Amino acid sequence: MNSEAAILEVNQVSKTFKTKNFAGKVKHVVSAVSDVSFTLPARKTFGIVGESGCGKSTLARLILRLIESDGGAIHYKDRDLLKLSKSQFNDYRKDIQMVFQDPYSSLNPKMTLLDNVAFSLWVNGASKAEGRKQAYRYLDAVGIPRSFAERYPQMLSGGQRQRVAIARALVLEPKILIADEAVSALDKSIQAQVLNLFRELQQEFHLSMIFISHDLNVVQMMSDEVMVMYLGMVVEQGPADQIANNPYHPYTQALFNSAPSMEVGKRKLDDFRLIGELPSPLNPPSGCRFRTRCPFATESCASRMPQRVEVEPGHFVSCVLYPEVGSERRAM
Ligand SMILES: Nc1ncnc2c1ncn2[C@@H]1O[C@H](COP(=O)(O)OP(=O)(O)O)[C@@H](O)[C@H]1O
Ligand SMILES: [Mg+2]
Repeated sequence: MNSEAAILEVNQVSKTFKTKNFAGKVKHVVSAVSDVSFTLPARKTFGIVGESGCGKSTLARLILRLIESDGGAIHYKDRDLLKLSKSQFNDYRKDIQMVFQDPYSSLNPKMTLLDNVAFSLWVNGASKAEGRKQAYRYLDAVGIPRSFAERYPQMLSGGQRQRVAIARALVLEPKILIADEAVSALDKSIQAQVLNLFRELQQEFHLSMIFISHDLNVVQMMSDEVMVMYLGMVVEQGPADQIANNPYHPYTQALFNSAPSMEVGKRKLDDFRLIGELPSPLNPPSGCRFRTRCPFATESCASRMPQRVEVEPGHFVSCVLYPEVGSERRAM
C-alpha cells in the first residue's frame, strides 16, 4: 500500500455476467470487470474513465454489493466487504453512497424534495421531524433554496435535481461518495457548477470520492488519481497529472486525442484517434483487448496478456510497448 492512508482497497475484483436462453442454458458470458485492483486514499478523488460499456458501473455496483463479485476482496475499515453477510454489510452500507447519472430514477416523484432527502434517515430510524431538520441542512449544503423544499423533483431543472440527489446521498454522512456519470446528462455550464459543488462538498464533509465518467476531461479535472479501463480491464493507472501530461497506453492517448477541447495532455500521436466500435464484450479479443483498435498492435498482442509495468513512480501501464525493466535480460 502507498504511504497515504487508504480508506478503500479493491483487490482483484472480477465480474462475468452469464445470460441464459429459454432452456436455461448459458448463452453468453460477458466479462464486464476483469481482475481490477485499486486503492482509494482517504479524502482524495479516484477517477475511473473509459468508453461506455467498459465496466465502470459494474465496478461501482460490486463495491456497493448491488451485485456479487466472482472473487477478490474489497477492504474497508479492516474488513473485507465481500466476505460480510448481507446483514453485516448493512452496517457499512451507509458509509458508501452513490450519485447516478439520472436523478429521475433515484428520486421519488411522489415525494417533496425535502422528504426525498429525509427518507433514508427515516428508514434508519429518525423521527419525521428530525429527518426533515437534517434534510434542510443538506439542501442548504447543495445550494437548493429552502423555498424549494416542498416542490417535487419533476418541477426542477436537471442541475437542481442532481443537487437534490447529492443531498440525498450525503444525508447519511457517508465516508465514500461514488459519482457514476453524475454530470453526464447536464449541459456544459451546469456541469461545471455541479463539479464545483462536488469539490466544495468533498472539503466540507471530508469525503473520499470515486469519480466515474466516460469523459476524460471531467475525470482528469476532478481526480487526484486516474484509472483507465477498456473492456473490463485496467490499461493504465496513475496520478492524474502524469496521465494527462504523459499518457503511455495507446488507448489513453486515443482518449485524449478524441476528447474535444482537451487543453492538457501531451498529444503523442496527433493523427491517432479512436476509430471503430468497442468490440463485443461477449467475445473480447484474445491477449490485449485493445489490440483490434491499436495502431501499434503486433501478432504477439493477440497471444499474450500485457503485463502491468510501473513506468514512473505510481504510474502503471499494461501494454507490450513498455516491457518490464530487465525483461530483455531475463529472456537472454
Ligand atoms: N446485469 C447485466 N447482465 C448482463 N450484462 C451486463 C449487466 N450489467 C452490465 N452488463 C454488461 O457489462 C458490460 C459493462 O457494463 P457497464 O459496467 O455498465 O459499463 P460502463 O458503466 O463502463 O458503461 C457491458 O457489456 C454491459 O452490457
Ligand atoms: Mg456506466
